[in-house]
Amino acid sequence: MDSAPKTPVTAVIVVAAGSGQRLGYGMPKAKVPLGGDSILTHALRGVAGSGIAQQICVAIPPGDPELLALCEAFTQELKAERPDTPGDGEAGDVPVVTIVDGGATRAESVRAGLAALLPATEAVLVHDAARALTPEAVFHRVSRALTAGALAVIPVMPVVDTVKTVQPTSGDGAAIAPELVTGTAARETLRAVQTPQGFEVATLRRAHAAAAAFDAGQAAAVTDDAMLVELLGVPVHAVRGASQSLKITTPLDLIIAEGLLEGPLGVRWVEG
Ligand code: CTP
Ligand code: MG
Repeated sequence: MDSAPKTPVTAVIVVAAGSGQRLGYGMPKAKVPLGGDSILTHALRGVAGSGIAQQICVAIPPGDPELLALCEAFTQELKAERPDTPGDGEAGDVPVVTIVDGGATRAESVRAGLAALLPATEAVLVHDAARALTPEAVFHRVSRALTAGALAVIPVMPVVDTVKTVQPTSGDGAAIAPELVTGTAARETLRAVQTPQGFEVATLRRAHAAAAAFDAGQAAAVTDDAMLVELLGVPVHAVRGASQSLKITTPLDLIIAEGLLEGPLGVRWVEG
């Protein structure tokens, strides 16, 4: 009888180099306080708590001293939990924490992370720091799909709203409303996509090597890693995400995240 597939050596790239314009806090979003800690600290604890990573690679705004200090404090926190382990990425050890300078776009930040992965890395998950409250179960679902042989896997949620396509209104219609509906998408086939997104490492490197040549317009249209893998023609699998994985983007999202932390269900509660 065949033995169970071996879990690949796994790194998690946490992208935290964005400026947080839509949150409007006047500071990089990763630094914004959430329940007494920073958004980044919550995100890093979620990754570490899942236990799937031999390396956690964090992309921060270049030279940001406060985020550097937050990452270093997190590294010390990990070591304090497991004082008996050397922290060199061996199995059962605490993960190695690597900090890299992020880029001008999310994809550039991912590429900076990819360039800093340990040579033994076989699988990589890319996670938005802004999804600070992602439950450990979601990391496990993504990781399990990679172990089962997926080259690419994403966590998704059903879409609750009806989704329509529109175009700007032209001519006389512009006096009535700014946009005209052009169609209605079949909701049962739609999914809202979250992170962490997991990949066999060579597949993600290949996808990002292709994207590095994009012009500015194409680069601006890249909103996740899986779409780059789709362009290679590689199948992308989908597992269940979680509503707590919301991306903290606007002030309303921050209020919801604070509510989740204070709520009776506990922050890492997972439905279903
Ligand atoms: N990100 C990054 N490097 C960039 C841009 C984004 O690492 N150059 C990261 C963000 O830190 C975030 C994730 O990608 O964790 C998703 O991006 P988003 O929610 O858009 O964050 P920001 O770009 O910071 O926010 P905004 O677009 O409102 O400025
Ligand atoms: Mg952004």
